[in-house]
Amino acid sequence: MEKLAIDGGTPVRTKAPIVETDVFEQEEFDALMAVAKSKKLRRAEVTLEYERTIAEWFGTKHAIAVTSGTTALHIALAAFGIGPGDEVIVPPYTFVATDTAVLEQNAIPIFADVDPVLLTMDPEDVKRRITPRTKAIIPVTISGTPVDMDPIMELAKEHNLWVLEDACQSPGARYKGRLVGTIGHVGVFSTITGKNINTGEGGFVITDDTDLYEKMWGYMDFSRRRSLGPASKYHFDLPCTNYRITNMQAAVGIQQIKRLAQMNKTRTENAHYISEKLAGLPGITLPPEPEWGERVYFYYLIRLLPEVLGTDMLNFAVALAAEGVYNINYLSTTRWMIPQHLEPLFVNKAGYGGTKCPFECPWYEGKVEYYRGLCPVAEKACEEVLWLASVHPLLEKQDLDDVADAVIKVVNAFIEKKEKGIPINYATDAHRAALAY
Ligand SMILES: Cc1ncc(COP(=O)(O)O)c(C=O)c1O
Repeated sequence: MEKLAIDGGTPVRTKAPIVETDVFEQEEFDALMAVAKSKKLRRAEVTLEYERTIAEWFGTKHAIAVTSGTTALHIALAAFGIGPGDEVIVPPYTFVATDTAVLEQNAIPIFADVDPVLLTMDPEDVKRRITPRTKAIIPVTISGTPVDMDPIMELAKEHNLWVLEDACQSPGARYKGRLVGTIGHVGVFSTITGKNINTGEGGFVITDDTDLYEKMWGYMDFSRRRSLGPASKYHFDLPCTNYRITNMQAAVGIQQIKRLAQMNKTRTENAHYISEKLAGLPGITLPPEPEWGERVYFYYLIRLLPEVLGTDMLNFAVALAAEGVYNINYLSTTRWMIPQHLEPLFVNKAGYGGTKCPFECPWYEGKVEYYRGLCPVAEKACEEVLWLASVHPLLEKQDLDDVADAVIKVVNAFIEKKEKGIPINYATDAHRAALAY
């Protein structure tokens, strides 16, 4: 057996750690400089051009650029008319923003479990969670995997619900030929650094529904009415806020959208390269390719099979980190180990102003509790699915080799230790405490 670095062996990677970085070429620099020279830094013509570029790329009637994926989710829910007393069905295997956007409208996130392989919303469980208070469903295309949308759209039709696609991790993925984000009433995307499109911070919504577009536009900009043009400046007739982006982000975004297809292609090639190297390795499963569409790749996820490896994900991650290909802080910083319904925010029903509002509020006629066992599939996934590495387009072959070789090395060593009855205890109490929930 090759000695693991954590046992004193030589790490697979001795050169500098792999860093997440974004494609930012001469075109982005030039576009940014042009805005700087124009001295029109705030939302103006360049942002409108960005929105036209987005709408054209996705083939939708409308697009609105906003400050983040989170605020994109918020303006969509606001435009749907979601409010106090309403329930919105969300998945627990996602970034917390999907679920907290619902709280922004004083509505209640109701968690529906995910598919054990794809990790996307399970339509059967969505069906079980619908009540007379349900107003919307938010399916999330996690790390580029399209959700099975037909049954979700059917449920929505039957129960008169809005569908908000959280496609923050998947611009360019397709479900049965249709671009993810164009199937529900509104699709939302994040363009924060590290995502498939990068504008530093940012996000956007797309829709074919002109009424929703006008409403979302208002929520993006202090409830102003777009149709009134400059006169809209003094129309504030709804609760509202400011989610405008700058022309600087828009200028970068235009260039990023132009190179999105190529960047996605390279991400997929990187992911497939790792998959080819890991194919047939026992003890792990590789990222799924759903039958109903074409996925894109944000991160490369593997599932660890504890019964084969003889240990849990934390020991695996610590051993992998010692091989020089994994940053152990990822586990606690991205917190993908925690199903969202078990975050203290939900378990404690920590509401606004120190109250339990909206979870326990006179407007809400239901009763909601968040506890372990609520979504068992997602809970198990959080214990076993490792967000191994970004597959961003600037990775070199050596980086991909190092990631795959380190996984092979650790898997083989763990299996051998298991067969020999050698206990695996690499995770310290400090690691476990940092990740406890
Ligand atoms: C699935 C998902 N939804 C929402 C968000 C929120 O996007 P942002 O960070 O741009 O607010 C993110 C990512 O950050 C995400 O991955």
